[in-house]
Amino acid sequence: MEGSSSLLDAEAVADLVLLDPLTEESLVQTLRERFRRRDIYTYIGNVVISVNPYQSLPIYTPEKVEEYRNCSFFAVKPHIYAIADDAYRSLRDRDRDQCILITGESGAGKTEASKLVMSYVAAVSSKGEEVDKVKEQLLQSNPVLEAFGNAKTVRNDNSSRFGKYMDIEFDFKGEPLGGVISNYLLEKSRVVRHVRGERNFHIFYQLLAGASPQLLQQLKLRQDCGHYGYLKQEGSSLPGMDDAANFHAMQDAMRVIGFSPAEVTELLQVTAVVLKLGNVQLSSSFQASGMEACSISKPQELREICELIGLDPGTLERALCSRTVKARDETVLTTLTVPQGYYGRDALAKNIYSRLFDWLVQRINASIQVKSDRQRKVMGVLDIYGFEIFQDNGFEQFIINYCNEKLQQIFILMTLKEEQEEYVREGIQWTPVEFFDNSIICNLIENSTTGILAMLDEECLRPGVVNEDTFLTKLNQLLATHKHYESKETQNARRVTDASLPPRCFRIHHYAGKVTYNVTGFIEKNNDLLFRDLSQAMWAAQHALLRSLFPEGDPQKVSLKLPPTAGFQFKSSVAMLMRNLYSKNPNYIRCIKPNDTKSAMVFTPELVLAQVRYLGLLENVRVRRAGYAFRQLYGPFLQRYKMLNAQTWPRWDRGDREGTEVLLAGLELPAEELAFGHTKIFIRSPRTLFDLERRRQERVAQLATLIQKMFRGWRCRTQYQLMRKSQILISAWFRGHRQKNRYKQMKRSALILQAYARGWKARRTYRKYFRSSASTCLANFIYRRLVQRYLVGLAKNLPPLSVTDRTWPPAPYRFLDATNQELKNIFYHWKCKKYRDQLPASRRAQLQARLCASELFKDKKTLYPKSLQQPFRGEYLGLKQNPKYQKLHAVAKDKLVMADSVRKVNRASGKTVPRLLLLTTEHLVLADPKAAQPKTVLSLSDIRGVSVTRFSDGFLALHLKEVSTVGAKGDFLLVSDHLIELVTRLYQTFEATTGQALPLHITDRFSTRFPKGDVSITVVESPKASTNGPVCKKKGSNKMEVLVY
Ligand SMILES: Nc1ncnc2c1ncn2[C@@H]1O[C@H](COP(=O)(O)OP(=O)(O)OP(=O)(O)O)[C@@H](O)[C@H]1O
Ligand SMILES: [Mg+2]
Repeated sequence: MEGSSSLLDAEAVADLVLLDPLTEESLVQTLRERFRRRDIYTYIGNVVISVNPYQSLPIYTPEKVEEYRNCSFFAVKPHIYAIADDAYRSLRDRDRDQCILITGESGAGKTEASKLVMSYVAAVSSKGEEVDKVKEQLLQSNPVLEAFGNAKTVRNDNSSRFGKYMDIEFDFKGEPLGGVISNYLLEKSRVVRHVRGERNFHIFYQLLAGASPQLLQQLKLRQDCGHYGYLKQEGSSLPGMDDAANFHAMQDAMRVIGFSPAEVTELLQVTAVVLKLGNVQLSSSFQASGMEACSISKPQELREICELIGLDPGTLERALCSRTVKARDETVLTTLTVPQGYYGRDALAKNIYSRLFDWLVQRINASIQVKSDRQRKVMGVLDIYGFEIFQDNGFEQFIINYCNEKLQQIFILMTLKEEQEEYVREGIQWTPVEFFDNSIICNLIENSTTGILAMLDEECLRPGVVNEDTFLTKLNQLLATHKHYESKETQNARRVTDASLPPRCFRIHHYAGKVTYNVTGFIEKNNDLLFRDLSQAMWAAQHALLRSLFPEGDPQKVSLKLPPTAGFQFKSSVAMLMRNLYSKNPNYIRCIKPNDTKSAMVFTPELVLAQVRYLGLLENVRVRRAGYAFRQLYGPFLQRYKMLNAQTWPRWDRGDREGTEVLLAGLELPAEELAFGHTKIFIRSPRTLFDLERRRQERVAQLATLIQKMFRGWRCRTQYQLMRKSQILISAWFRGHRQKNRYKQMKRSALILQAYARGWKARRTYRKYFRSSASTCLANFIYRRLVQRYLVGLAKNLPPLSVTDRTWPPAPYRFLDATNQELKNIFYHWKCKKYRDQLPASRRAQLQARLCASELFKDKKTLYPKSLQQPFRGEYLGLKQNPKYQKLHAVAKDKLVMADSVRKVNRASGKTVPRLLLLTTEHLVLADPKAAQPKTVLSLSDIRGVSVTRFSDGFLALHLKEVSTVGAKGDFLLVSDHLIELVTRLYQTFEATTGQALPLHITDRFSTRFPKGDVSITVVESPKASTNGPVCKKKGSNKMEVLVY
């Protein structure tokens, strides 16, 4: 919808109807802005304005054709394709014949536009071998006609020097069937003369540049342009134009159209003849009668011409140099002067060429015309020479500008008419508009009695002296007061001094500007006479084509009637053209030339303004806007704006008109702004349309957001759902898989369990039958046998019962090691118990004492090993036997444990005194040996502890509790020969009596308590001590050394 977006762009509106404010300046400015943006097309309603870009733009591609194909006219950017499409569809679908009128001044781009229209129609119409051939033929007519009918002028390098109207004919399906070309007034004077900076018709240059040497030889031509009189006035080559390539293109085109090679040769031969005629030189000579005559100065060229056309050179020479005049019944041959001869030669060349061009058009028509009688629809494309104002304007310009004037008239009338018709058709009130009607100028030229053309004809046909001056005088007389006519005379009459209007000139105020025409040549060109001798000579030639061009040369058909004048012919063909155009639906392409220098993208506002003025564009817009600036069919309108109303968006199911009414009612637009036609909605001011567009754009943005939102939501939802579905699927599969695995495992486990259970059950039932259990049985049997043998063996081989014997047979098998060891221990303990049980009580007590001694002293006192040799006798004194000890015996009675003699160490001196020691189960008694009386009786419970040395001495300190009765005397230091036994028995007895263990210290240093203080005793190993006993040495008051060995 690019077109519509530029609708909103007030700086460069795509349709000038929407221009606001509407002035010449704003209109030109808009065109300029669009041109700057390379938008060379602009609309005024359905009229296309085309500004020549003078450069190739990328807007004619096949993609563009597709873009415009079947699109809505206003929905896309303005383009020539849009109007072509509109016309073609209207023709095809609504059965309305169409014409496309392309107007504009020379170089504005008319021919290019017509080619674009044709190529578009060819591209969009249906395809097929036959149809394609027709299309190709229609398209290829352009290069042929351009070669013969176009030339470089100061305004345009490829200026059409003829008018062309081409009817393309279609069948009911819109397939092209063929066409008819009409040509109008070729500027034939160009054949013999052209102004500086211009060229002759392209074909001459193309022929010389592109023909092969053989062809040139065949045509008796030279490649050098400068050699030819009709060409040499200017440089032949044209920048940007490849004549040779164009020649080949033209030949190809002729082939496509259906020209036979012979026809092409003939055509080129006649062309060569025209070129060569320019080189026929005349010189003056004098006849015998003294009259000046002319003759051919260099007959070579003439001879070659005659060879080419198969004519006797004498005949041609005669025709060129003399003239047959018929007076009454007499025929007189008069000689011509040199100027007359040249005039005749040039007239011949011009006539040959223009007739050749007519023949060419007829020949093309013969190829492209529709053969069948099928009903046809027609699309006419008019590309006629543009309005021209030169420095020096002659008859041709007058004719051309007249034609343009007529086209302007048709434009004005038809635009207005159509507008008016549309309002009537749609039932809308119509307000008439002021506009410039150029009928007055058309009338000035073509009026059958007072028109300039009529007066020119009158002058040409009038007997007597006829020249341009008489013609001008006549004009001045008749048109003296005409608003659009001026000449020196009328100016003088009005007392106007104007140096720009020279004598022998008249000026017409055309719709497109004032043009001053020089009357020189008007009569002659209007007469367009060719001496009969020349046409007869041409008819006499062998050359079929040339001959056919001059039918009046046939002496049989000699007619004295003058041929119609060029003006008359032109006027009638223009009238016919107008009738033709009026009968069709017009489509306009108005071409504008942006600069005079043919430069790309240069925009000269003054030049454009002049064209805008004479093309009446402003009036065109006004007419278009007189009623309503914008109109559109209800359908497309509703389609475009339906989103502006909630009722019509997104779908409207009822009629388009009703929908449009509902839509606009909701928008609250002023009532006078709108009118509802039968099929179209009309909007009065551009502002309202802009407003609609603005609202639409805002709404579209909203809708786009909405669509985006919905789409994103939808996309996210679908994606989420897809993900969810996938997730569910994956988890379902996963769970299934996991459960399957679990089930499989359970099944496997169950099977295993079952198998085991069944196996177990079966084994239980069948175990007895199974050999497999035999091994266990055997193993158990063997095991039992081994154990049995082992035990039996043991019983037989038991070691001796002696407790000292610790032997035991080794285990025969390793697995019996632990058992063997255990049995060994059990046996040993049993053996010991047995031994113990058979011992007497005394012996047992002795052994217990020994055991106790060992526990107390083994490895602690050096004396112990020695004591092992000595039996524990206990009674060393012989108390019973010795009456001396009777008293003592009485004291001891049955409770005696041990009786021995000891030495008591004097605590003051360290010396020893003998004593008798009795140990009973309750007391420890010390007695003097001599008196054999108890001296000290200690209750065992008074004893606190005993200290002995580590050595092999018999020293012993008996520590007493302080409460002892004899406590006053302190501890006892004794020396015994049976120390081990003594201490052991004391220990045992003490334990038995008190139930406590006697504290025994085996130490080198200890302290003894005495009434006079404690004495610390240090045991010193010394050789001074004898083996019998230790030597005690008092050291100071409270220290004593015990020397031991
Ligand atoms: N649409 C276009 N794109 C590019 N160049 C263009 C276009 N239209 C015209 N031209 C250029 O302008 C030149 C003149 O155009 P064209 O021959 O169509 O003018 P014209 O109006 O037919 O003039 P005349 O009345 O003299 O025949 C072309 O040769 C071409 O170079
Ligand atoms: Mg042209």
